[in-house]
Amino acid sequence: MIELFNVEKTFGAVRAVDKINFRIERGEVFGLLGKNGAGKTTSIKMLTLQLKPTAGEIFFEGRPTRGNEIFVKSLLGLVPQHLNFDQDLTVEENLELHARLHHLKKIERRERIDELLKFVELERVRKSFVRELSGGMKRRLLIIRALIHRPKILFLDEPTVALDPQVRRKIWELIKNLKAQGITIVLTTHYIEEAQALCDRVAILNCGRLVALDTTENLCAGKSLEEKFIELTGAAIN
Ligand SMILES: Nc1ncnc2c1ncn2[C@@H]1O[C@H](COP(=O)(O)OP(=O)(O)OP(=O)(O)O)[C@@H](O)[C@H]1O
Ligand SMILES: [Mg+2]
Repeated sequence: MIELFNVEKTFGAVRAVDKINFRIERGEVFGLLGKNGAGKTTSIKMLTLQLKPTAGEIFFEGRPTRGNEIFVKSLLGLVPQHLNFDQDLTVEENLELHARLHHLKKIERRERIDELLKFVELERVRKSFVRELSGGMKRRLLIIRALIHRPKILFLDEPTVALDPQVRRKIWELIKNLKAQGITIVLTTHYIEEAQALCDRVAILNCGRLVALDTTENLCAGKSLEEKFIELTGAAIN
């Protein structure tokens, strides 16, 4: 579904992503792990066309991203690392704005917004301003905002950061539910148990380089994923 060939990104002297090569298969949950600054967000940004690679090529369903931007953007949804709502709009208005950006028709917008608010149990707060929501509610809203246009691939950059264990589990259920609907999922996380609970395969980045890629089972082979992570990156997950 997605292929990366020698993908590289430099910011001046900083090599944020260093010639990475891998494939993401249709229908899988693919995890990107790595310490702070390992290159996870930069990779996600290149995969979601927010950043152009310095070198290398990315393909979606066999088509290069270059020259196929509209096609690729229609396939993907993005849950960014940092909340980027308009806090002074209501929950409903934020979703409406996003649906319009994706050119959904009025009836379709209404149906989709109702359906998604129900899906994450946020109907009760649809008229509330985003600034009034709890952290967990904002994260759930961020996820459904990315689903408005029915993307086939969902990218989630640290979807459960700073959430309590109960809300985290709810988001895990939500992600499992999306996988069951056939959506391909690419996520980054600092939580080993999250990678273990959700991911079919995990890629570990260290200083921009891909240092491991396998199923969590194969990667661990007698060790915990945490031990393997420390072995490969020289640090505990942060
Ligand atoms: N816009 C930018 N300009 C300059 N350097 C950048 C920029 N974005 C990222 N970097 C650098 O690229 C490297 C990778 O950053 P990136 O945000 O991809 O890491 P990350 O793995 O997502 O880290 P975290 O776990 O902290 O979110 C870091 O050294 C960072 O300082
Ligand atoms: Mg990041």
